[in-house]
Amino acid sequence: MAVNLLLGLQWGDEGKGKIVDVLTKDYDIIARFQGGPNAGHTLEFDGIKHVLHTIPSGIFHDKAINLVGNGVVIDPVIFKKELDNLDKFNLDYRSKLLISRKAHLILPTHRILDAASEASKGKAKIGSTLKGIGPTYMDKTGRNGIRVGDLELSDWKERYRALANKHEAMIDFYDAKIEYDLEELEVEFFEAVKLLKTLTFIDSEEYLHQAQKDGKTILAEGAQGSLLDIDFGTYPFVTSSNTTAAGACTGLGIAPNKIKDVFGIFKAYTTRVGSGPFPTELFDEDGETMGRVGNEFGATTGRARRCGWLDLVALKYAVHVNGVTQLMMMKGDVLSGFKTLKVCTAYKYKGETINHLPYNVEPENVTPIYTEMKGWSEDLTKMNDKAQFPKELNEYIEFLEKELETPITIVSVGPDRTQTIHR
Ligand code: GDP
Ligand code: IMO
Ligand code: MG
Repeated sequence: MAVNLLLGLQWGDEGKGKIVDVLTKDYDIIARFQGGPNAGHTLEFDGIKHVLHTIPSGIFHDKAINLVGNGVVIDPVIFKKELDNLDKFNLDYRSKLLISRKAHLILPTHRILDAASEASKGKAKIGSTLKGIGPTYMDKTGRNGIRVGDLELSDWKERYRALANKHEAMIDFYDAKIEYDLEELEVEFFEAVKLLKTLTFIDSEEYLHQAQKDGKTILAEGAQGSLLDIDFGTYPFVTSSNTTAAGACTGLGIAPNKIKDVFGIFKAYTTRVGSGPFPTELFDEDGETMGRVGNEFGATTGRARRCGWLDLVALKYAVHVNGVTQLMMMKGDVLSGFKTLKVCTAYKYKGETINHLPYNVEPENVTPIYTEMKGWSEDLTKMNDKAQFPKELNEYIEFLEKELETPITIVSVGPDRTQTIHR
């Protein structure tokens, strides 16, 4: 049985959580494959808004198994908060939440290292979510990390202590002095680990192999977005994992030839939170309107998201890198009322017009070239069928499909589960 992937194609926050929730009814297993609690995936239904950071977005459905894959980094403290929140909704997550033994743990000192590293960079800071993501993946690739499966071993606390001691020395190395009370942080950490240990740890690659043999349907849920990918994103202003399609293979142990559909999610405009280049960023009233109407504040950090026009050069790049087979356009409703919409179709790069994302994408090298389109004034949020779409919205969608050579199969017109239109 094939595996489908769902990924963000921009700088994150495209609406992955919402769509995974919408699609879960068609799947037996939802599996997160990378990232950690830097992610904030929002779901809305029955008038309630839920934000998930580590737990896959299929958790609110009765049947689906939700798997946290080996490529994910888990902070037990944040994980505990997520579970406590599910308890409030009387959700019996125990039978349907599985965790890979090979997933790495975020320690309290990883978070402090993240803060020290960012503070020492001054203006050049990445704008990290300060969840310890970078330092944890550094320990993973440096072969020093502590994995979920280690919690089942008797000596894990000694390994913890040795690593935390090393981290403290590293924190001292930074010029920026971060105040912290490790003892206090450890009380919270060990308490959270105790809860984590009551969940089911599995050899997830074997579990997924068997599931595929048994004909189960699997949806791999990405976090962040393609332009934050450690290899293909706007380096160094990226996250520390492969957010693109290949990340699902390494983050779950799924073979490339088992992947069928790749669902690419994008907003009808563009947002970015944190630092780094953003060619179509707006600093005017239009950008302000997108942020206000789209309620563009980070689900994890609450920071205001930077807003701008849709960038087809960057989007095309993401479609190519991921092998996207179906596109899903989110937040079209936010653009209602704009008389004219702009879409970036090329860049002026060092005096030349180019159609691909160059190595140097900084504003001093790249000026966007826009195609203008007529906007629509209709409120889309109450629509439930594509037959109700205004002509200009259809023209916008068809233009993107032609440019991206990929069909747009879902148009989302509001945050709620029900505000989802299939084409
Ligand atoms: P994710 O990280 O990709 O899951 O996305 P986030 O949850 O961080 O951010 C997406 C935000 O947009 C959330 O607040 C969603 O509730 C909201 N959202 C998702 N789809 C739509 C849509 O079609 N229209 C509007 N107005 N909001 C949406
Ligand atoms: P979801 O899954 C948007 C950004 C941060 C920062 C950079 C590095 O909700 O789409 P990190 O904490 O990973 O070291 O931060 O990446 N970032 C995100 N931006 N959505 C996310 O996740 C993000 N996760 C990380 O703002 O610029
Ligand atoms: Mg998010």
